[in-house]
Amino acid sequence: MQNSITLWINQEKHQISGRDIFKPLSSYLREDCQLTGTKVVCGEGDCGACSVLMKDECSEQYMAINSCIAYLYGLHNKQIVTVEHLSLNPDIQKLQKNFVNCGASQCGYCTPGIICTLADLYQKKTSPKSKHIKNALTGNLCRCTGYESILEAATKTKFKQPLRLETVSHDLEKESLDVVDNQYHFHAPQSWREAIELKKNHPELKIVANLTDLGVVLNKLKVSHYHILSLQNIETTQHLFEHEGNLVITPAATIHDVEEYCENIYPEVSELLRIFASPQIKNRATIIGNVANGSPIGDTIPFLLMAKTQVKLISSQGERIIALEDFYIDYKKFNLRPDELIKCLLIPLETLNELSKGHFRLYKVSKRKDLDISAVTLAMSLALKNNQFQQAHLCVGGVGPVVMNFIFDSNDISEKNFGKQLIKEISDKTLEKIAPMSDHRGSAKYRNKLVENLIKKFFYDEKFVQEVL
Ligand SMILES: Cc1cc2nc3c(=O)[nH]c(=O)nc-3n(C[C@H](O)[C@H](O)[C@H](O)COP(=O)(O)OP(=O)(O)OC[C@H]3O[C@@H](n4cnc5c(N)ncnc54)[C@H](O)[C@@H]3O)c2cc1C
Ligand code: FES
Ligand code: FES
Repeated sequence: MQNSITLWINQEKHQISGRDIFKPLSSYLREDCQLTGTKVVCGEGDCGACSVLMKDECSEQYMAINSCIAYLYGLHNKQIVTVEHLSLNPDIQKLQKNFVNCGASQCGYCTPGIICTLADLYQKKTSPKSKHIKNALTGNLCRCTGYESILEAATKTKFKQPLRLETVSHDLEKESLDVVDNQYHFHAPQSWREAIELKKNHPELKIVANLTDLGVVLNKLKVSHYHILSLQNIETTQHLFEHEGNLVITPAATIHDVEEYCENIYPEVSELLRIFASPQIKNRATIIGNVANGSPIGDTIPFLLMAKTQVKLISSQGERIIALEDFYIDYKKFNLRPDELIKCLLIPLETLNELSKGHFRLYKVSKRKDLDISAVTLAMSLALKNNQFQQAHLCVGGVGPVVMNFIFDSNDISEKNFGKQLIKEISDKTLEKIAPMSDHRGSAKYRNKLVENLIKKFFYDEKFVQEVL
């Protein structure tokens, strides 16, 4: 049992114990390491000023993350690079010179975060196009320069080889972690056996994944979790993998992992995940964290429901598998006993393949396209028989206490031919079953209208009708 965490910052080993592991990385960098190039503005993952690079044992490259919501206890065995270290790299100096020459930095408060985020991109693309840069920078705000000159400096910077950032070769520290400081107590066991024993003896333990939800709660609501269990130290060689006909999503699998996995085989899914948060968030946010957070506007849930995902739960009494639909009981109420943990999600590959070959769409509507919370999310698929309507499956978020799951077949819908009447019947049936709330993201009336319009859009996008009716 180890009572400290180890991480590497700019190649230097840091062994941290006691109360310090309960701080955000940004505070540790600025206050303990005097690495003040990393800035903090919003403290909730929204502005990118605190961006740094992180590499874990499963990834070959560094990834940009938000250090303000990355708590140190979640960074055991990780390598971190900050802007101070990056600026020693001749390729990055070229990028920095272009920032100066293009007038891409005024007060300069956002610039270190932007340089870190672009360094992530230049590892993958030697001459990124404007669309790649815009996508990479969705999580970085600049309040004074204006984005045109930032875009110009970044597009001007071209390399012959992908950017290579040094890594430290080190043996992973494979012991379980148990760090105590007064009322604070953190556990990160190495095995499921230890994890379920801990949860059995301490059902009050707060489970943390990668803290993109919880980090905001800790920073903004000043809620303190004193007794914490992380499953991120349980040995996995792969974040997600195919096994016995399922895609297995482990607690380590991030939104970025799934986006990358789906890129070529299930483009509809990766398209949706492109507008999930920002790259910095997606590099940390786990799928299981999104599911367990249980928000009715959790962006992965409509798709996971449609794909007939199952949840594998584990406790000292053994394992049980339930349909994701049955995991949700009511708003933030789950079919999960106090002694249970989510071990993994199982997505049947057969369903994924059927969806990708058939009529299937995913939609997210928010006030702005990038880095925004959904007003409504909708997954829809349609089955035909002899070119006539047979079944419609809809999973809709933002219209009730949980993401709603409806199937209408030919007994529910009288019209079988594609046209205005069929769309109206499906839409009316759906609207009967939903009860959206009014809040600052939209009124109930607006959300109902969105659902109606997205159903119409589905028929238009799938080319069942020539125009949006
Ligand atoms: C700036 C920003 C933008 C965001 N944008 C989006 C967005 O576009 N769409 C969206 O859906 N979400 C968004 N989110 C929310 C968040 O990123 C996701 O919900 C994310 O998937 C949570 O994963 P995590 O690993 O960070 O979980 P954490 O924050 O660590 O945990 C989330 C919840 O899951 C529970 N939990 C985690 N693992 C387990 C387990 N194995 N067993 C039982 N319970 C568990 C935790 O107790 C906690 O209640 C955003 C967040 C931020 C800060
Ligand atoms: S300070 Fe704004 S994202 Fe971290
Ligand atoms: S240069 Fe001032 S915030 Fe970007």
